[in-house]
Amino acid sequence: MLKKIAKYDIIYGNGSGCMHLPDYKEARSRDKRTYKTLKFEMNSSFKNKYADKKFYLKTYGCQMNEHDSENIEALLCSLGFVKVDDYLDADLVLLNTCSIRENAHNKAFGMLGRLKHLKNEKKDLLIGLCGCMAQESSVVEQIRRDYKFVDFVFGTHNLYQLPNIIDKAIEENRQQIEVFSREGDLVEGLPVVRATPFKAYVNIIYGCDKFCTYCIVPYTRGRERSRRKEDILKEIDELIKGGYKEVTLLGQNVNAYGKDLYENYTLGNLLEEIALKNIPRIRFMTSHPWDFTDNMIEVIGKYPNIMPSVHLPVQSGSNRILKLMGRRYTKESYLELFKKIKETVPGVAISTDIIVGFPGEKEEDFLETLDLVEKCKYDNAYTFIFSKRQGTPACKLTDEVSLEEKEERLQRLNAVVNKYFLENNKKLENKIVPVLVEGISEKKEMYYGYSDTNKLINFVSNKELQAGDIVKVKINAAKTWSLDGELVG
Ligand code: SAH
Ligand code: SF4
Ligand code: F3S
Repeated sequence: MLKKIAKYDIIYGNGSGCMHLPDYKEARSRDKRTYKTLKFEMNSSFKNKYADKKFYLKTYGCQMNEHDSENIEALLCSLGFVKVDDYLDADLVLLNTCSIRENAHNKAFGMLGRLKHLKNEKKDLLIGLCGCMAQESSVVEQIRRDYKFVDFVFGTHNLYQLPNIIDKAIEENRQQIEVFSREGDLVEGLPVVRATPFKAYVNIIYGCDKFCTYCIVPYTRGRERSRRKEDILKEIDELIKGGYKEVTLLGQNVNAYGKDLYENYTLGNLLEEIALKNIPRIRFMTSHPWDFTDNMIEVIGKYPNIMPSVHLPVQSGSNRILKLMGRRYTKESYLELFKKIKETVPGVAISTDIIVGFPGEKEEDFLETLDLVEKCKYDNAYTFIFSKRQGTPACKLTDEVSLEEKEERLQRLNAVVNKYFLENNKKLENKIVPVLVEGISEKKEMYYGYSDTNKLINFVSNKELQAGDIVKVKINAAKTWSLDGELVG
C-alpha cells in the first residue's frame, strides 16, 4: 500500500553555510522526485546559547503560517530566547510573512519600515523575515538592495535551519539569506509551543499542486507532500494524552491527502482512523472541491466527533471565470457537491472563499456569483478583491475592471453573504449547541467559545468554567457574526 518506503534520517538545524536565493522556475517544477521523512534534532551546542535574549514574533498568514510560528517559537525557546508581546522590548524581531494578497505584503514592509527606525536607536537589534514572502525572489532582491538592516531571511522549506541561521547572523554579523525554492524532504520532530492547551493544529499535507492562476501558494509552499499516516496518528495520540480536545488537520488542500504517498489511503481513511480515537473534536481545512470524494462525505457524516463544518472555497459562480482561474469545476458540479454534503452530513455548516474582480470579470459573471451565493446561503464566507501576484499566470491577464467597480462588487457581495450569516444563525435561536469554551471575553464578562459548526458563541454561566471544557449552551439571540446564549449543562 505504501508507494515509497521512507525511513528516518536524522537532520540537525544546520544551515548549509552559503547563500541561497529563491527562484520561481525551480519553485514551479513538479518532477517525480520522491521524498524522505527526516527526523529533526536540535544541535546540542545551540541549546540555551542565547538565554538572556528576548524575541518578538509576528505572524501574518493563514493557519499553516500560524502553525509554523508555533514551531519557530519552540525553536527560539530551545535557543534560550524568551517571548515578549511588544517588539520594542525585543532583542530579536521575526516576521513570519504571507504573500497571498498585496495587503499582507504591504503590512510586512510597513513593519520593516518601523523596524528600520528602531534599529537606528538599538544597534544590536536582530531582525529576521521568514514565511511565504521569503520565497518570492522580488522580495528577497528588495531586502538585499534596500533593507540591508534585515539580518536574516529563511523560507518555508528550511524552517528547521533557524537555529543555525540565527547563530550565523549573530556570529558573523552580516546578512544571511537562506531560501530553498525546491521543497525539501519532510521533517518530523520539530519542537512546538502550541497556542492553547486544548486546541491543536496538525499538518497532514504540505504544498499545493493545483496552480489556480491567481494564487502564489504553489510557488511559496511547493509541491503537495503528505505526511506519513503513522506520524500524524502518533502526533494525535500525544495530543490526546496531553488533554487536547480539538485537532484541526491542516493543508492547502487536505482532500488531496495521501495521493502522493499511498495507492489507496485518502483523507476519508485518515479521518476515520482519527475519529475512532478518543478525541472530542476533529476539524480539517481547506478542502478543494475537486478532490472531495463520496467516501469522505460519508465519513464526515458518520462520526459525531468529526465536526459538521466544511470550508469549501468556490471563488466564483461564473463558469467562464472559474475556467480562467483554473479551478477544475463548474458552478453546476460545485452545487451538486454542495448538495451532497448538505444531505449527507447532518446540520453541516458550509463556509467559502470568494474573489471578486478577477481580470475580465464582467457584471454578468459577478451576477452568477451572487446567484450561487443565493443558492448556497453560506454560514460564513471570506470575500476578497483580486490581487495581482507577481509570477502567477493571472498577473499577466489584462484587467479592465476599475478598482472602484471591484470595491462596489465586494460591497454588494458582502451584503448578500451577511444576510445569510444572520439568517442561518437565527435558525439556532432557542436551540442547544455544544461549545468548546475558550475563555472570558474582556468587555462583556461573558464566556466565549466555538460551536460544533464553528460559530462564535458568547454566553453567561452560573458556574465557573475552564478553557477547554465542552458545555451545552442554549442560544437566546443571533447576530450576524456571533450568537448569545446561556449555559444549560
Ligand atoms: N488552499 C485554499 C486557499 C488558500 S488561500 C483553497 O484553495 O481553498 C485563501 C484564499 O485566498 C483563497 O481561497 C482565495 O479566495 C484567496 N486568494 C488567493 N489568492 C488570491 C489573490 N491573488 N487575490 C485575492 N484573493 C486570493
Ligand atoms: Fe491556491 Fe488554488 Fe492551491 Fe488553494 S488550491 S492554495 S487557491 S493554488
Ligand atoms: Fe499566506 Fe503562505 Fe498561508 S501566502 S495564506 S501564509 S500559505
